[in-house]
Amino acid sequence: MTHNTPTAQPAVLDTIAATRRYVREARAASRRVALVPTMGALHEGHLSLVTRGRELADVVIVSIFVNPLQFGPNEDFDRYPRTFDADLAALGGRADAVFAPSVAEMYPSGASQTTVHAGAVAGLFEGTSRPGHFDGMLTVVSKLFNVVQPDIALFGQKDAQQVFLVKQMVADLDLPLAIEAVPIVRESDGLALSSRNRYLSTTERELALGLSSALRVAGEASASGIAAARRAALAAFDQRPDVRLDYLDIVDPATFLPLGDDATGDALMLVAARVGATRLIDNAPLHF
Ligand code: PAF
Repeated sequence: MTHNTPTAQPAVLDTIAATRRYVREARAASRRVALVPTMGALHEGHLSLVTRGRELADVVIVSIFVNPLQFGPNEDFDRYPRTFDADLAALGGRADAVFAPSVAEMYPSGASQTTVHAGAVAGLFEGTSRPGHFDGMLTVVSKLFNVVQPDIALFGQKDAQQVFLVKQMVADLDLPLAIEAVPIVRESDGLALSSRNRYLSTTERELALGLSSALRVAGEASASGIAAARRAALAAFDQRPDVRLDYLDIVDPATFLPLGDDATGDALMLVAARVGATRLIDNAPLHF
């Protein structure tokens, strides 16, 4: 098996057993293994995770699995884009293997009786709008870690709360791997790349710029403090009534808890908003 030779397409592994075999062979050759967990519908943001994985490890495995456990009953599980052939073509020789299990392979008894409980931070922000989402996400991520047993796993910073909770799980459960957060990839006009952007009409895509604009004006106002940054971001949303703000918060990146108006130091501004039927999130680091 030659892991580092770019090939036209990655090897496709659709069972846990085949994936374990593949990883065992890589380990026998003393290769470091990176995992990039995804739900497919790959875009440049995902590809930046793969590129970073390639810098940090010898073998890069991308998982593609739309995890039913992390979708609420009224969410977009059924219509979530499934673009497997295009995903393989996009990966090309950048990834060595794709682990693409069926739902039955991952949850043979229908659902997992044993799940990971994500803790208090999971009830905030995304967790308020998406109850149970983070338990479902951490449950599948821990299963993926157990199947692949990577040295390192890479996650996009766009899902900042997800990154925080994955790191917290790894620390709390003493999981033997490193987590690498990779910066958000944006379009030239500021829109953060997301698999859900493909739901947006041309008009909605224009409106969706409201999220990154709010983060930008907050950054510009941050020299005047947290309250000023929050006011500036809220004013940006007021100018776009068709963008329905879900939450806008400024948190301490170390605890993911909201910061008071007199806090100083590093911070993270989080926004979530609906544009038409599509819910989008974005975030940016700030310093006060
Ligand atoms: O970020 C995602 O795409 C998913 O939440 C993940 C990490 C692949 C788990 O299903």
